[in-house]
Amino acid sequence: SSDVVRRDRFSGGPAREFLSSMDADRRIFAADIAVDRAHVVMLAEQDVIEDEVAGEILAALDEIEAAGHEALPEGEDVHAAIETAVIERVGPEGGKMHTARSRNDEVATCIRYRLREDLLDAVAATVALREQLLSTASEHTRTVMPGYTHLQPAQPTTVAHWLCSYEQAIARDTERLLDAYERVNRSPLGAAAFAGTTFDIDRERTAELLGFEGIVENSMDASSTRDFLLESVTALAAHATTLSGLAEDVIVFANRGFVELSDEYASTSSIMPQKKNPDTLELVRATAGEAAAGVNGLLTTLKGLPRAYNRDLQSATPYAWETVDAVLDATDVVGGAVATAEWPEEFLAEAAGEGFSTATGVADLLAANGLPFRTAHEVVAVASERGADRDAVDAAAREVLDSPLAEYVDPDAVEAALDPTESVASRDSVGGPAPAAVEAYLGDAEDQLAA
Ligand code: ARG
Repeated sequence: SSDVVRRDRFSGGPAREFLSSMDADRRIFAADIAVDRAHVVMLAEQDVIEDEVAGEILAALDEIEAAGHEALPEGEDVHAAIETAVIERVGPEGGKMHTARSRNDEVATCIRYRLREDLLDAVAATVALREQLLSTASEHTRTVMPGYTHLQPAQPTTVAHWLCSYEQAIARDTERLLDAYERVNRSPLGAAAFAGTTFDIDRERTAELLGFEGIVENSMDASSTRDFLLESVTALAAHATTLSGLAEDVIVFANRGFVELSDEYASTSSIMPQKKNPDTLELVRATAGEAAAGVNGLLTTLKGLPRAYNRDLQSATPYAWETVDAVLDATDVVGGAVATAEWPEEFLAEAAGEGFSTATGVADLLAANGLPFRTAHEVVAVASERGADRDAVDAAAREVLDSPLAEYVDPDAVEAALDPTESVASRDSVGGPAPAAVEAYLGDAEDQLAA
């Protein structure tokens, strides 16, 4: 057939390897078989090709699928190689498979088909991680720990409140992935090279057979756009960025002895026998860089491409696969590391009071008893230079207000406000760290996940 001749024209050139996407196409081998099947069924239903030929092509596709990507004949890409394999089995009639389509709409359809699966895996991974974070949180609603701003001791919080802060962020990551999925899940098949076809095809039918939610209508856009890759990879990069923050927190906590990673998620040093390093989380932190590189790779590859199909697009696709794989692995590792880590409660409670971290609570207490908050802030600021106890606050009151603390507030209440556990329990506003507030969050979040 002329198809075979066309390919032979390009068979031996020095740029052959350079042009080939065969290796990267391993990822869309199964997708291409599915797309071929749907297209052939539609062509037969529309009487564009004979049922008998369609049957032979479908049988050949079964064989080719069973033999796998490695068994494919030579080809510039998986689409060409599978077509050659069909023709090898069916004869020239096998060339009817490529009626009314181009590799341009074919590859775009394959990428979307495969990426759908990857995005659903990513969604499942974020959901599993959230379940893990919530389950660990439910064991630590009363495990008081230091909270930081600027990496300086700020206010006491709990391990559960910290964990839920990431669970809530990852819930938005899940939403972004699902949002991307919606737009990935459209079929470009039937756009042909870019300009549609004279054959009486049914694009809705192939979309339906492949499980797509409708088509990408304009054939020039359908065959050339890769914005769906950008959107998916951006959603993955946002999630990787969330994970990198969590990883960095755990690295800092491990450094201070606030958390002990299980040996399975730590590494040793080849020379320093005492070392236990949080390498897994360092790699999670680095994954955000890889994902950002994926976004950047796509943006710079796609920027300024003219309509319609250009071969640059072949180089865009691997950024998506690399990012998906890296981010999926990182998500799983974070879940495992959190699930198996130990939180030394007594040590954490002690550390939670360091650096006069209850100062804000003392100022709040003075303000609740009638002092303007700004004045209360000043009293406690002066106290913080003298120490972090009741006597220091009393001395500060005498200095700033010219009267003893007891004139403004019950000194026992000040004593309580200075206690990290009391401090946490008193911050029971919605979304706050008090055990009751976190338990309310946990209940809602678990319900949402179950739904
Ligand atoms: N392998 C190519 C890709 O990934 C599809 C081939 C379309 N080639 C072409 N010269 N029109 O984009």
